[in-house]
Amino acid sequence: MSEIKNKVVMVTGGGANIGREIALRFAEKGAAVVVLDYNAENAERTVKEIEDMGGKAMAAPCDVRDREKIFAYVRQAEARFGTVDVLVNNAGGSAGLLGKLTRFVDAEVETLDFVLDTNIKGAMHCTQAVLPGMIAKKYGKIIHMSSIAAVVGLVDRVDYSAAKAALIGMAKALAQEVGQYNICVNCVSPGAIHRAGCAPMEHMTQLGETGHGGMPSDIADAVLFLSEQDYITGENLVVDGGRTLGVSHR
Ligand SMILES: NC(=O)c1ccc[n+]([C@@H]2O[C@H](COP(=O)([O-])OP(=O)(O)OC[C@H]3O[C@@H](n4cnc5c(N)ncnc54)[C@H](O)[C@@H]3O)[C@@H](O)[C@H]2O)c1
Repeated sequence: MSEIKNKVVMVTGGGANIGREIALRFAEKGAAVVVLDYNAENAERTVKEIEDMGGKAMAAPCDVRDREKIFAYVRQAEARFGTVDVLVNNAGGSAGLLGKLTRFVDAEVETLDFVLDTNIKGAMHCTQAVLPGMIAKKYGKIIHMSSIAAVVGLVDRVDYSAAKAALIGMAKALAQEVGQYNICVNCVSPGAIHRAGCAPMEHMTQLGETGHGGMPSDIADAVLFLSEQDYITGENLVVDGGRTLGVSHR
């Protein structure tokens, strides 16, 4: 089991909702946190929250599609805090971010590019930026934020379902390449998670789902758990309160 205290953690999309909760959780455990988010205001707000609780953090205002900037921020973070020990590839989302959810037959190629680039290549850029440091240190934990969309598929989100499934494949293949360097690569697949400012979602009370509806803290718990494990790699941890379990009748 690995200690998080004094580790360096980079959380993409760490400015709000699930990513913010993960960033704060690692800071509470004594890690220095690099908050990468294309919304600079969100990134700075999370950094301030961490500093206000006595922690160390740095904002990296950048899009996960911007490979050059990511590499530059990782070098800055390494110079300031040391090697990035834990990478949480959390930034992502569906065509809903563009207001363009639609049946696949009607999906525009620009939307497909946006969803695949953000979810898949974004995670690849960030992973390639931190991997040399992890390999040199012979230590690392990489956690991709997938989704139940990868496991069961979601209508109007064919591109997103495919992209999130790609992260699971990526984790399994990369885990085999980097196990020899003591690096673990895993995924967390959330169900419907409450977002700040939104009303509780209808599907949170679907058949089979446990009572309280998913909260960002449920996902932060899972990410922290995986970041502390040394013998779990190439796995996908579904955290959905049972939503994707078999159909049954009450
Ligand atoms: N919320 C859910 O119900 C849910 C369910 C399953 C999976 N997920 C996945 O969890 C992750 C986080 O979800 P969320 O709902 O907290 O996200 P969100 O849309 O609330 O965004 C969180 C933060 O990520 C930042 N961000 C978005 N795109 C970015 C980019 N390209 N580069 C850098 N920063 C970016 C935003 O500015 C924001 O501060 C995503 O990968 C999402 O696909 C979410």
